[in-house]
Parts: sequence; structure tokens; C-alpha cells
Amino acid sequence: MNPIIRFQNVTKRFGALTVLDNFNFEVQRGEKVTLIGPSGSGKSTVLRILMTLEPFQDGLLETDGISYHEPNGRGPFKASEKHLHKIRCNVGMVFQSFNLFPHMTVLRNVVEAPVAVLKMKREEAESRATELLRMVGLSDKKDHFPSQLSGGQQQRVAIARALAMRPRVLLFDEPTSALDPQLVGEVLGVIRDLASEHDLTMLLVTHEMRFAREVSDRVCFFDKGRIVEQGEPERFFSNPQQPRTREFLSSILGEQEPIRESISCAR
Ligand SMILES: Nc1ncnc2c1ncn2[C@@H]1O[C@H](COP(=O)(O)OP(=O)(O)OP(=O)(O)O)[C@@H](O)[C@H]1O
Ligand SMILES: [Mg+2]
Repeated sequence: MNPIIRFQNVTKRFGALTVLDNFNFEVQRGEKVTLIGPSGSGKSTVLRILMTLEPFQDGLLETDGISYHEPNGRGPFKASEKHLHKIRCNVGMVFQSFNLFPHMTVLRNVVEAPVAVLKMKREEAESRATELLRMVGLSDKKDHFPSQLSGGQQQRVAIARALAMRPRVLLFDEPTSALDPQLVGEVLGVIRDLASEHDLTMLLVTHEMRFAREVSDRVCFFDKGRIVEQGEPERFFSNPQQPRTREFLSSILGEQEPIRESISCAR
């Protein structure tokens, strides 16, 4: 089966800094994959490249069979808006800082992109948005503005907004790390529900190890632009092979006892 995400020898530099050096990585259709790793290792860069928010200098990338290079061979940074649009229709992203439109109500935040980008009829977009807001537990907030919501509620709107575009691949970049600990559980609960959808491919960057263990088909430990170790979560967490993975896990798990408890009593 063809992978839905395929990085082949992708190199990404910011000036003199090489963040990805011949990076190879594949995700299968419907797979739920977690990327963990130290700060500055390049995890967000991987997601931002997939979302077309960052160009890359070398290598090949495709999602759902569509290359980030244009068919006429122009480089990834020179792809036309029309081509980038095609890629963006497949990929959705949820950011650490929610990024909602502050001047729009919750409902409009979810409705705007399908109307503007997918040319969906407004009534249809509204009925779908209403359904998605119900799914994330926010039916009663649809006429509120983002500033009137808690961080956890804002993040749930952001998830509904990403889903409204019907992406095949959904990217999450530390979706709970800007939240107060007591709000983490409600957002993880929504993501956990989504993870049970077979067709949706999910790539998550998270520091919530217990959550990663629960929802992922595969956990990848990423450091300095490379995947150092990866595997099925049970084996990965109970028996990490690489010294760097062990070191990272013991540093992060040591900090997480209180958060773990808040997850177990969520929802
Ligand atoms: N726009 C940019 N311009 C220059 N350097 C950048 C830019 N974005 C990221 N970098 C650098 O690229 C490297 C990888 O950054 P990235 O944000 O992908 O790391 P990360 O693994 O997501 O870290 P964190 O866990 O802290 O979010 C870092 O050294 C960062 O400083
Ligand atoms: Mg990051």
C-alpha cells in the first residue's frame, strides 16, 4: 500500500542551520503516529513543511499521492498557489496556540474556510459546523467569541475548524502545551475520540507520554532532525533500545506524574 505521507531525502535549512538532513519518513493511511523529542529537534518543522507553511531545499515529499513539486518540475518553493491549494485540501493542522480568528464567532471560525476555500454552500457549512461543535462538546458556545472561551474550549474549536475542511491527514503540534493542566484532559479526550476514526491519518507532536502510548500505532523519537528510534508504543515505552531515547523518556516522564493523573479523570 502507498503511504499517505512520504518524505524522501528531504533537506530543510534555515540559513546556515540544517534542521532536516536527508530526512526519510513515511506514514500509512489511517495510521496514528506520535513524534516526540527534545526542543529544537525539528518536530514543528516537519509538520509545518507538511502544511506547506515552510518550503524545503531538497528531496521529495508527497501527501496522498500529490507531490509538493509541481508536475512541471518547478521546485517546492516555487509551486504555484493553485498547486499548494491542492495539497492544503488534504492536510489540516492544529497549533499549540489555537490561532482562531478573534473577530469571528465560534461558528464562523468553523464555517469560513469551507465556504471560502472549498466553495461549500453557507447553509451546508453551517450545518456541518454545528455537528462538529456538538462533537467537541461546544454546541452552547457557537455564538461566543474566542476571547470568551477557556483555552481548552478554544483548542476544541480549532480542532472542529480543522475537521471542517475534511482533511485526510490531521497534524497536531503540541495541542495541549499552552493549556492549564486542568484543561488538558478535555482536549486529549476529543483527540482520543478522533483517533478511533479509521480513515483519518494523524501525526501528533506531544509531550504527553501516557496519551502517546494510548492513541498511537507508532511512536517516533526524533532528535536533531532524525528519527532515532520508533516502534509500537507498548514496546517503545517499556523497552527503549537507544540510550538517547531512554535518557529523553526518563527526563520527561519524571516531570509528568501530576499531568498523568489529570488525564485519567478527564471527561
Ligand atoms: N523560521 C525560522 N527561522 C530560523 N530558524 C528556525 C525557524 N523555525 C525554526 N527554526 C530553528 O529550527 C530548529 C528546529 O525548530 P522546530 O521548531 O522545528 O523544533 P521543535 O522540535 O518543534 O522544538 P519545540 O519542542 O521547542 O517546539 C530550531 O533550532 C529552531 O531554532
Ligand atoms: Mg515545536
